[in-house]
Amino acid sequence: MNLAIVGAGYVGLVTGVCFAAKGHRVVATDKNLDKIKSLQAGKIPIYEPGLEDLLKEVVRAKKISFTEDLGEAVRAADVVFLCVDTPPQENGMADLSSVESASRQIAKHLAGYKVIVEKSTVPVKTGERVGRTLEKYCPAGVSFDVVSNPEFLREGAAVQDALNPDRIVVGTQSEKARQVMRELYAGYAAPILFTDIKSAEMIKHAANAFLAMKISFVNAVAQICELAGADISQVAQGIGLDKRIGSSFLNAGIGYGGSCFPKDVDAFARIAQELGYPFRLLSEVQEINRFQRQHFIRKIEDELWVVKDKEVGILGIAFKPDTDDIREAPFLTIAEALMNKGAKIRAYDPKAAENARKLLPSVRYVETPYAAAEGADCLVIVTEWKEFKDLDLARIQKSMAHPTVIDGRNLFPPERMKELGFVYRSVGR
Ligand code: UDX
Ligand code: UDX
Repeated sequence: MNLAIVGAGYVGLVTGVCFAAKGHRVVATDKNLDKIKSLQAGKIPIYEPGLEDLLKEVVRAKKISFTEDLGEAVRAADVVFLCVDTPPQENGMADLSSVESASRQIAKHLAGYKVIVEKSTVPVKTGERVGRTLEKYCPAGVSFDVVSNPEFLREGAAVQDALNPDRIVVGTQSEKARQVMRELYAGYAAPILFTDIKSAEMIKHAANAFLAMKISFVNAVAQICELAGADISQVAQGIGLDKRIGSSFLNAGIGYGGSCFPKDVDAFARIAQELGYPFRLLSEVQEINRFQRQHFIRKIEDELWVVKDKEVGILGIAFKPDTDDIREAPFLTIAEALMNKGAKIRAYDPKAAENARKLLPSVRYVETPYAAAEGADCLVIVTEWKEFKDLDLARIQKSMAHPTVIDGRNLFPPERMKELGFVYRSVGR
């Protein structure tokens, strides 16, 4: 099939490349000309494992191309994917101005019959608005259907998630659009769940809010474990083995970050409120998340006693491993809080340092994890990159001014760290 991707960001690019790998013919467009130029030159602006290689493959097979001309992309397409950003506004509501303006532009180029797919995460009832906007701005006589087909991609594993999803959710009332979507996903093993459009929009918000709730729940239990002298890793394992609960998303840490959970929990709470239901559980999920991070900062401060002029090494900048994304990354809050109290911060991350340099230029970004530790009063683990698990801990212990590790991701067994001569504090253990 011929597909158009409008918005070649984290989601749009992965979606486009993966559909191309499944044999569809994809044209992706973006309002950011630099992005399009770099993609045309075969360079991807983000780090996502496997994406660059797959892009090269599909470019070679002439299955994907990039254009700054939205009209060109839309005119050729049977299905148009809306993948523009939906960032949070000050009040927590999703800012839908990109969705609105992209819909207007798409409308102008509609001809014949096309399916317009909402991929961006949007509050329930946005599909209706998109439909009305297309109707208002499209030429007379064209026909189209709007479909909600939310993405469930985890950054760092997005290619795998896009090629082998657990489920495919397709929200539409139109049998014609359903048939188009069946054809689009013919090469996928996952079950397709057909729903109405509002339910599909709701599934995305509810899924992300539920996962965020799982994380906040385990983080709250971790707090109680610390107070009681229990071990959250054992507790999480014990509850996760219950099939009804499941073991994933039960890692206690420093709270969730990233471009989705914080904004989607906010937006879901706001839309619920607007519709007349005060979803207080979600306020608590957010509150626990904030507390978790602040508590971790206090733990570091407590260990240092006086923060001013202390050398603090930080391992991990990205909001999670295997990405260079720093949106809502705990690193930003932690580094800023410590610098405000006069600490000198050096930080290491395999991929995200360049992005962080633009936001926090006063941090010293170092080239190796060992450079972050050398001579430091304290080493803080913020992201659980695999390479940190394999570090030569004895070397780190010897090189630090004071061998203290504050671990926000529970990477190491406490007994081992003690044996190696570290002062070691982790989360909920
Ligand atoms: C996406 C979804 O949009 C968001 O709802 C979801 O929750 C997370 O994933 P993401 O792909 O991460 O967002 O956003 P971003 O990387 O900012 O990409 C959006 C792209 O759309 C940008 O490249 C931007 O230039 C482009 N864009 C935006 C357009 O091409 N046209 C517009 O009118 C607005
Ligand atoms: C999430 C959803 O998983 C995905 O389905 C959706 O479409 C987009 O949002 P993403 O934000 O990329 O994906 O990553 P995810 O792996 O879900 O992690 C989100 C945050 O939760 C990270 O900050 C991570 O560190 C944190 N997390 C995750 C925990 O603290 N504990 C866990 O057990 C799992």
